[in-house]
Amino acid sequence: MKQQLEAIRRNALDAISGAETSGELDALRVRYLGKKGELTAVLKQMGKLSAEERPVIGQLANEVRSILEASIEERGKLLKEKAMEQKLLAETVDVTIPGTQPKIGKKHPMYQVLDEIKDIFIGMGFEILEDREVELAEYNFTKLNVEEGHPAREWSDTFYFTEDSSILLRTQTSPMQIHAMETKSLPIRILAPGRVYRKDEVDATHSPMFHQIEGMAIDKNITMADLKGTLNEVVQQLYGKGTVTRFRPHHFPFTEPSCEMDIQCHKCRGAGCPTCKGEGWIEVLGAGMIHPKVLEGCGIDPTVYSGWAFGMGLERMALGHFKISDLRLIFENDVRFLEQF
Ligand code: DAH
Repeated sequence: MKQQLEAIRRNALDAISGAETSGELDALRVRYLGKKGELTAVLKQMGKLSAEERPVIGQLANEVRSILEASIEERGKLLKEKAMEQKLLAETVDVTIPGTQPKIGKKHPMYQVLDEIKDIFIGMGFEILEDREVELAEYNFTKLNVEEGHPAREWSDTFYFTEDSSILLRTQTSPMQIHAMETKSLPIRILAPGRVYRKDEVDATHSPMFHQIEGMAIDKNITMADLKGTLNEVVQQLYGKGTVTRFRPHHFPFTEPSCEMDIQCHKCRGAGCPTCKGEGWIEVLGAGMIHPKVLEGCGIDPTVYSGWAFGMGLERMALGHFKISDLRLIFENDVRFLEQF
């Protein structure tokens, strides 16, 4: 029995020191020290021993038990430490690995230009008005002196909502003039930017949706000189001192006299190049002195008050600003394009 106990001690100590997990260690505890374990099995045979042998073997058995218990405990501690070390190793964060950069968006370049234009007008005492895109034909046309039968009112030109052509997607920001005259007290200085809609095919210079900026000033003694002075100041601030403009006579039903304003081509300085289609000039807006009929229609006495108005193409301004030649780039929202500005 002594040999048996010694064999258990040897084998168990070997096995314990070779255990690699706490699971294995538990199994060894059961195998050697458990109720049906090997050590217990030996102790159960103690009855067969002589009275002299019994205490000697009993002491040895107790010794073996406590050695195994101590060794299991020690091994357990070691395995726990090892496991912790491995866990720490596995969870190590390498702070030198570059992080993932969150992509931060920014304002569309065209709206950046719009912000600049707004700032300039706000600096001159104008108020920004932004309003409906679905408009009554009365405001989009009639009150602007665009009568029935005018080509702009054609179904082929305009997106109507109703068979009777009374409601539509506005084709211009000019109806904002009427809304301002009807709701504001004089004098009025407004800038009204927004989307407008026409039945145009998409190409390099056309889109069924585009942006206009309407400007209007009404007061006593307002003249064409105020219009030119204001627009020239805006252009100088936007494109730099010395930028040359020219005003050409034109016709609009809601202004009299009417004109169009061109800006000298920023690329060729007037010599003519592909950007300005050889003209040397880029047309950017229509303008004029508000027609007395339009003022009158809104309850403003044209013998006391006068005013100017203009409608500027925002995409045109942006094309010039960013020196790009295709309108579609502005609307495609390709980040590779947008990121350049
Ligand atoms: N609404 C005109 C258009 O879409 C542009 C325009 C011309 C606006 C003359 C005006 C103006 O305010 O006075 O073509």
